[in-house]
Amino acid sequence: MKQFLHVSDIGDLAGALREAEEVKANRFGWKSLGTDKTMIIIFFNNSLRTRLSTQKAAMNLGMNTMVLNIGQESWKLETEMGVVMDGDKSEHIREAVPVIANFCDIIGVRSFASLKDHEADYNENILGEFLKYSGKPVISLESATVHPCQAFADLITIDEAWYARTGHHLGDPSYRKPKVVMTWAPHPRALPQAVPNSFAEWMNAAPVDFVLTQPEGYELDPRFVEKAEVSYDQMAALEGADFVYAKNWSSVSHYGQILSEDRSWTVGEEHMAATNEAFFLHCLPVRRNMIVSDSVIDGPTSLVIPEAANREISAEVVIKRMLEDPR
Ligand code: CP
Repeated sequence: MKQFLHVSDIGDLAGALREAEEVKANRFGWKSLGTDKTMIIIFFNNSLRTRLSTQKAAMNLGMNTMVLNIGQESWKLETEMGVVMDGDKSEHIREAVPVIANFCDIIGVRSFASLKDHEADYNENILGEFLKYSGKPVISLESATVHPCQAFADLITIDEAWYARTGHHLGDPSYRKPKVVMTWAPHPRALPQAVPNSFAEWMNAAPVDFVLTQPEGYELDPRFVEKAEVSYDQMAALEGADFVYAKNWSSVSHYGQILSEDRSWTVGEEHMAATNEAFFLHCLPVRRNMIVSDSVIDGPTSLVIPEAANREISAEVVIKRMLEDPR
């Protein structure tokens, strides 16, 4: 695997889920794969889960790891082409990427959307520099438009919970598909669309009935919505849901703007009462009582902690595949 951005990069989802199960049962079983190999993990933005889970996954596989916070532990990087570099940015990304690549076998990059320039963000300009100029396998650790390690961990978590509840894995033809609803929820700051984009992309590829619900103006890019059912009526969308995934995102059409602060979209017990005793998911970090009430996130069907723990597993499957075949 040369890059990990989209669900298509992982191939067959049933195979990926079974591999995740094997890795989870024996997470140090492929330690020899990473001996004398190095992973460099680059952060342009803050992280808790991604930083720890990716590093842990690489270490499980026997790799050496180096983590670099750009601008704090390195020179500030200029990412625009054709600019006169007379400001506070001392180094250009065009030199930095091949220099970083000299010292590693795999690169992971976190580079959030600017939310100012739709074209630059949706072209993945920063991650694109690593993809084009590193010559090494590259993992998006939440780039401008996608967060595939999160979506893969979400899928693993849904499959595990579905199996625990019904005795059937996702895709079992002898049993019904789960209804998975992703609902927009309010947030005081404008957030990128990477998590909902990837969740939608992965759910559209998975054997689930996927519904997206959001206020008017929060439509995701059609490339990620694809065949999902879309509803502007949150309570109707939640009816009979087996899984509820809450997330805030800013507008795509009014790029990066907050169009609604409607707290009736905060997921509370009255929302969960409309569901089929749904499991609750969120990628974290979460703003309590903005996105979800304390009672729901602390309730018996909340999966947020096992979901975060599965970030180690999704990362390990991806890194393992890159070590096995870096082409
Ligand atoms: N879910 C997630 O990516 O968490 P961090 O931003 O803390 O890495």
